[in-house]
Amino acid sequence: MSFLDPVPDLPATVDTSQPSAARAYDYFLGGSHNFTADREFADQVLAIAPSIPAVTRLNRSFLRRAVLYSLDQGIRQFLDLGSGIPTVGNTHQVSEHAGVPARVVYVDKEPVAYHHAQLVLAGSETTTIIQADMRQASAVLNHPDTRRLLDFSQPVGLLVVGVLLYLEDPQPAELIRAYRQRLATGSLVAMSTLTAEHASPTLRAEMDLLRGAYEAAGEPVYPRDHAEILSWFDGLDLVDPGLVTLPEWHTDDPNELDDVARPLGYGAVARVP
Ligand SMILES: C[S@@+](CC[C@H](N)C(=O)[O-])C[C@H]1O[C@@H](n2cnc3c(N)ncnc32)[C@H](O)[C@@H]1O
Repeated sequence: MSFLDPVPDLPATVDTSQPSAARAYDYFLGGSHNFTADREFADQVLAIAPSIPAVTRLNRSFLRRAVLYSLDQGIRQFLDLGSGIPTVGNTHQVSEHAGVPARVVYVDKEPVAYHHAQLVLAGSETTTIIQADMRQASAVLNHPDTRRLLDFSQPVGLLVVGVLLYLEDPQPAELIRAYRQRLATGSLVAMSTLTAEHASPTLRAEMDLLRGAYEAAGEPVYPRDHAEILSWFDGLDLVDPGLVTLPEWHTDDPNELDDVARPLGYGAVARVP
């Protein structure tokens, strides 16, 4: 099914005339779950920040490796915050592809991501999506679907990948603190976000223009530097190699290390002690 076609049962309240960052991200990844306004916005971003599709792919690749690592460490249940539109390579697909069954609760506030995920996941007994603002940790953790699928007495994989860039300070640190209180020892927390700290002058100029475009579209983004992101992991045990640029984290495709967008994203995985 393509969202270039009429979307079945899309709630009338969804305003597709306004661009959404979630649907622009889908467009950057080559997905088709986006509308004219999203594509126009995304094309505008591409014109001023051509490295963006590359950083979205690096981020998606980090998500895959973080999920595979977690499965390898025995994690069998995931809470995926800001999960996005379910294009290829979502958490449940990574686990299916690896042949390791896992339970997954996706959380996204964006109505098209929610609606489409519901269609894709219909009939699944192990994976679901909640439409919620992830900042409402208590509502997410106590949601009936979360309680049905996730057992917080056992380790959980908390995925906060490519989404904290949308939160203003001090929300990322508060959010991680709120969720980690519920996580059993041995749980893993994976985070990635946008940075411009070591970007070349060209990339930095791209980031400035990008921030302006997202702000104008009502979806401001906040690149962070290493020290600040590291502080979000306070009280957790960082898995080697710590907080590094996305392709450096458990690299499985050395070509990614040469990617021009590499300085634009940091990621890490940490264990709940
Ligand atoms: C860039 S996508 C990342 C998708 C996926 N995690 C990945 O890394 O590929 C960010 C997603 O976070 C969602 N999002 C942003 N702020 C959110 C919030 N406060 N609560 C829930 N979802 C949010 C957006 O709707 C979007 O779908």
